[in-house]
Amino acid sequence: MRIGFLIIGLYSLITPLEAQKSAEVAKTPPMGWNSWNCFRANIDESKVKAIADAMVSSGMKDAGYQYIVIDDGWMTNGRDINGHIIVDATKFPNGIKPLADYIHGLGLKFGIYSAPGCFTCLKLMGSLGSEQKDANDYASWGVDFLKYDHCNYPSTSVEAKLVPLDSCRAAYELMRKCLENTRRQIVFSVHDKCTIGAVVNNEASLPWIKTVANMHRTSNDIRNNWESMISNLETTSNLWEYAGPGYWNDPDMLEVGNTGNESTSRSNSLQNMNLNEYRTHFSMWCIVAAPLITGNDLRSMTPEIIEILTNKELIAINQDPLGKQGKRIRDDGDTEVWKKELSNDQLVVALLNKSNEPVNISVNWKELGVKGTFKIRDLWTHKDLGKFRNSFTGKNIPGHGTMVILSKKNRIY
Ligand code: GLA
Repeated sequence: MRIGFLIIGLYSLITPLEAQKSAEVAKTPPMGWNSWNCFRANIDESKVKAIADAMVSSGMKDAGYQYIVIDDGWMTNGRDINGHIIVDATKFPNGIKPLADYIHGLGLKFGIYSAPGCFTCLKLMGSLGSEQKDANDYASWGVDFLKYDHCNYPSTSVEAKLVPLDSCRAAYELMRKCLENTRRQIVFSVHDKCTIGAVVNNEASLPWIKTVANMHRTSNDIRNNWESMISNLETTSNLWEYAGPGYWNDPDMLEVGNTGNESTSRSNSLQNMNLNEYRTHFSMWCIVAAPLITGNDLRSMTPEIIEILTNKELIAINQDPLGKQGKRIRDDGDTEVWKKELSNDQLVVALLNKSNEPVNISVNWKELGVKGTFKIRDLWTHKDLGKFRNSFTGKNIPGHGTMVILSKKNRIY
């Protein structure tokens, strides 16, 4: 009996602490920047510092962006005699900590990249067998975010596609535990190639990965073209029941404004997205409560790109504390209607035009599950459009464009 009390006593002491730890990060979708889409492995200390400066000076920090994440390519393919990963000294001559300190000095957070196999996707050193050592190094450098990829696990890309789900699970759980052991709050972002390599959206991994990671890639690598962006949205569209505070489906990083030399459309001759397509991309990532991790060169943004990425009304729906991923409620082929329920009794609706021509898209209250007269606001023009009863028609929505409207739910004016 006494032992029973003791165990219950210890359990109640430990559980709230454990629960608190994972609940403290990523309560809303993480927002930041990652080096991969624009720069690939071509990163270095001065470039990353300049990007962090630009995140502040462009107004992105004020709009809510926080994390500066260096992707693959910061490390060598070796470890020192004590087993610590060797940083690429030509790119980061001062090591990683001074860079993290600089980023923290700007009031931002710092993220890094690794993989659970012998090698990262660029065949540089992965964390296999050195998970705790790496986690400890990250914590000592001041890392706040870890992107944990899944190439070359255990040691080749072929094996990574064949590896059983349980083995993936063990690899991710191990790193999660190692991060927790450091007692530092670190967002854990995973790319579960066990799922993606074999069958896109094998939902078998989703329930458990939700308890391990704070965000989970649901698609292949995004490219800066309409087809790739829509395809990534599609793979995430039916996973809404797996998203919520502390865990988010990740259709990959944003391509908005990515005109860098490494912009990947060139490889398959598809066009980079235009401004309407970027607005759709940003709208839909906000609707599906995706992490908003930009992948463009923040040092050279046009005013239009800054305006898209810092649309505070859209960011507010992405960051809504209720944390509900929006759902498609109507699919008419070329046009779609999506809705996302927000806290404070609000409802946001996206009218998505997938055709090349301008169209009108209507939505009626019955399909939204509401009744009455509502005041409607356009979140791209930032204008109140008036009061509407029973239905609303978005007029002249441009080809590949999206209108996003907001109203109070269950309120009759
Ligand atoms: C994979 C990931 C990308 C990027 C590269 C780095 O392809 O999906 O986002 O991290 O690896 O090598």
